[in-house]
Amino acid sequence: DWTPAAFVQETIEKIKAQVGDKKVVMALSGGVDSTVAAELIHKAIGSNLYCIFVDNGLLRKNEFENVLDSYKHMGLNVKGVNAKDLFFGELKGVSDPEKKRKIIGRLFIEVFQQEATLLTDISFLGQGTIYPDVIESVSVNGPSVTIKSHHNVGGLPEKMNMGLVEPLRFLFKDEVRRVGREIGISEIFLGRHPFPGPGLAIRILGEITPEKVAMLQEADAVYIDGLREAELYDKVWQAGTILLPVQSVGVMGDERTYEFTVALRAVTSVDGMTADWAHLPYEFLAKMSNDIINKVKGINRVVYDISSKPPATIEWE
Ligand code: XMP
Repeated sequence: DWTPAAFVQETIEKIKAQVGDKKVVMALSGGVDSTVAAELIHKAIGSNLYCIFVDNGLLRKNEFENVLDSYKHMGLNVKGVNAKDLFFGELKGVSDPEKKRKIIGRLFIEVFQQEATLLTDISFLGQGTIYPDVIESVSVNGPSVTIKSHHNVGGLPEKMNMGLVEPLRFLFKDEVRRVGREIGISEIFLGRHPFPGPGLAIRILGEITPEKVAMLQEADAVYIDGLREAELYDKVWQAGTILLPVQSVGVMGDERTYEFTVALRAVTSVDGMTADWAHLPYEFLAKMSNDIINKVKGINRVVYDISSKPPATIEWE
């Protein structure tokens, strides 16, 4: 029978045998998978694991600082790399979703590789690949159709010519969480909603500017904090805000406003392949609408997305 405790023991032994006294480099994302994988490798080889966490400027509000801090508290040997300007610069003027994904994926690899070459004598690449990633990278991005190119799988290994350490390769998400719990990883990581690799770039329809990112980060923080306060966060599979590329008329005091609209998204799902829109209470939606419009400058309208997948997708891009 599969148990987290046995898996942890066995996996640590396997990593020790594979890596020996060599060094491993690995990118962290703040997500469950890379965090659990890193902690397992860390348990096996200690300070011979070198972690890199890239700030692409497209993360949630304060996410980079908070997550980097948590990693340091876990004792991980992690370097935070601020690459915001690089990402914003290359995304300037780009509105096509797939182009955004490609640029972000390419820059991430470039930054990671550059950081990795600053480290000497690295023999292995650690990755938080889980079993559904292995399957999905085949079925979703098959040779003939690409619905959305999920860049977080693949790319790195082929280019870097290193051995791979992928301790979660045969696990499903719920097993990863159980393993994480077994090795003492905080519930803040384990219970976190999925967040796409391209981040807020695919939640800003059309062109991305640092100002739009800042606006969306504020709205998103109000919404996510609101979900937590109302104890709804754990009842939905994923939630986020989308900044629409339209301005509309509103009124604030005696002033006419002409500002942006934010769409709130919350879905229930098992694996993200299909999803239902979450039936959040009207009172909660009303509060979120008020709070966002009052607190976030530049937004005068909030709508709720009531589309399920299929035929819609979870993200808008
Ligand atoms: P969709 O929008 O395809 O999303 O229904 C399904 C799940 O995948 C996430 N997603 C991505 N994750 N890179 C990622 O790492 C991407 O380009 C990407 N696009 C969508 C989405 O957040 C949801 O959890």
